[in-house]
Amino acid sequence: MHYGGDYNPEQWPEEVWPEDIARMQEAGVTMVSLGIFSWARIQPSEHEFDFDWLDRIIGLLHDGGIAVDLATATASPPPWATVAYPEMLAADENGTPYWHGSRQHYAPSSPAYRRIATELVTRIAGRYADHPAVVLWHVNNEYGCHLNVDYSDAARDAFRGWLEKRYGSVDALNEAWGTMFWSQRYGSFAEVFPPRRAPYSHNPGQLLDYRRFTSDMLLECYRMERDIIRAAGATQPVTTNFMGAFKSVNYAEWAPELDVISDDLYPDPNDPEGFREGAFHGDLMRSLKPGTPWLLMEQASNAVNWRPSNAPKAPGQLAAQSMQAVARGADGVLFFQWRQSRAGAEKFHSGMLPHAGTQTRTWREVVALGEELGRLPDLPADDGSARVALLLDWENWWAIENPDHPTSLDYLSLVRGWYDAAHRLHVQVDILPPTAELTQYDVVLAPHLYLLTGEAAGNLTAFVEQGGHLLVTAFSDVVDGNDRFRSGGFGTQVRDLLGIVVEDFGALVAPGSAGPGQQHARVTGDGFGFAGSFLAEEAHAVDAAVLATFDGGRQHGRPALTSRRHGAGTAYYLATVPDDDGARQVLEHLFAAAEVPPVLAGLPPMVEAVRRGPLLTVINHGAEPVRVDVQGRDVLADAVVRDVTLEPFGYALILPDR
Ligand code: GLA
Repeated sequence: MHYGGDYNPEQWPEEVWPEDIARMQEAGVTMVSLGIFSWARIQPSEHEFDFDWLDRIIGLLHDGGIAVDLATATASPPPWATVAYPEMLAADENGTPYWHGSRQHYAPSSPAYRRIATELVTRIAGRYADHPAVVLWHVNNEYGCHLNVDYSDAARDAFRGWLEKRYGSVDALNEAWGTMFWSQRYGSFAEVFPPRRAPYSHNPGQLLDYRRFTSDMLLECYRMERDIIRAAGATQPVTTNFMGAFKSVNYAEWAPELDVISDDLYPDPNDPEGFREGAFHGDLMRSLKPGTPWLLMEQASNAVNWRPSNAPKAPGQLAAQSMQAVARGADGVLFFQWRQSRAGAEKFHSGMLPHAGTQTRTWREVVALGEELGRLPDLPADDGSARVALLLDWENWWAIENPDHPTSLDYLSLVRGWYDAAHRLHVQVDILPPTAELTQYDVVLAPHLYLLTGEAAGNLTAFVEQGGHLLVTAFSDVVDGNDRFRSGGFGTQVRDLLGIVVEDFGALVAPGSAGPGQQHARVTGDGFGFAGSFLAEEAHAVDAAVLATFDGGRQHGRPALTSRRHGAGTAYYLATVPDDDGARQVLEHLFAAAEVPPVLAGLPPMVEAVRRGPLLTVINHGAEPVRVDVQGRDVLADAVVRDVTLEPFGYALILPDR
């Protein structure tokens, strides 16, 4: 179990370093991430490299028994670089550059950036490939963070090349984007630009391809660095830190390129439901590389600095959230950052070692957590505990959030709605792309797959044929991979599977907005009674049983929830976006039909129960103590138990009796 954090020794005089090492030992630190923002210190000018200091600190850490996750330092180019090569600055949608003086201001497609980054990484990898302290490589940092999309001239040029490779001919591009609309036809790739500021709506195919291109450019940067590390003969695993479900980077596509998945997680301590975000992150990270433990690469020991109001963590919250990551498959818990900065924009961000020193609750909790993690036995990787898969698809995310739709949907929050509903029912889920192998699951939740490829539709159909229970929800199967309607109306890929035809999407007035019109659609049926929002579709049940109908409003009496037997399984369709209670009702119905049990029965919603192979973890995120009946060996207490009482933020890791 790794324990530690980002370590930025370049911010401190060298006299402080030995004290850092001693304190790290006191806290049980096993690994630090070194050099993430050290480019300017390593390379003070273009032709000058200084590795002496880095040699010294890596040596000190190694002597102190602390391993190094060595960064490639490419996330924040120094001022000399952007002064010499201003063409490497990223730009906003007006084409205005983002200047240096902050961080992460580079254009990922810039040849100048890639050239100097190559030189830097080549030297770092060459120097430390064989260093015994280095156990992991940390490529760049949070790819795509801050500058989600770059509209620079470097991006323009690279986009043209990317399109040429994708489409082969400009005619094929015109066809894919439907450029006969609004006189957008291109005569050559050289006429195409990034979707920079324009008077009115952009071409949706162009927007979608620009998202793909953005993720691909960052992936090219990652691969470039990873390949340099490998070419230097380094054999340690390589990672880059993800940020939960992050729109600009298609993590499902990236995951095979990483040896170890790592994640940064910062739920708001003030949000009583914030722990569900942690659960979602953990399940996503575990699902990105099944069978391989991941790392919680960053979290805060206490408050962050970047919200309008930065609440401290409650006593015990830190350990509870850390154990949540372990329960969901992490083999390491690390922080941003080791020692709180004395200067700079993040000086109010907590560290493991606070500015106020060691006579602090933060330090005591950090030390206690290190001690506890150090006592854990080797934990098994997850062996496929989840019976339910929730589908999350980046290409769909990009397409469904294009403008000019019947209603504006926030895809991630809708996916999270289903995730949270399953989490409240204590049912464990994996989070997967729609083309993933699904045969091991009993239930697949496929919310809002507006962009549905033939391949994904075939996968879902096969899942049902083989006995699975599938839920498809409103505004699904609307467009192809180019964000174009297929001929033959809507739902062409899964219409037969579902036995329904959607004639119209029936947009409701957005929840909470003022103005006339219907905001919610009432849904009723045997065992169902809830409100839907955003959409109340006009759907016709052609060959499906109607489980619930719309009650009142424009779609009064029409199907809201349907089911159809197909092969050995059942396909359900829900023609609206349910409220929390509706999601619960629908899931309870599916889980009962598919005989999916909760991880543990009878738990209150603020207590979570997670399986990691044979290990069962229960965590109380609520304000009241809870007694949980569970028999087995309590790993931390090293005792056999029949039940455990969990105080607020209390947890227990149990190896249950077989
Ligand atoms: C991100 C970055 C870190 C730091 C933290 C602050 O995760 O990777 O460098 O800025 O945010 O919360």
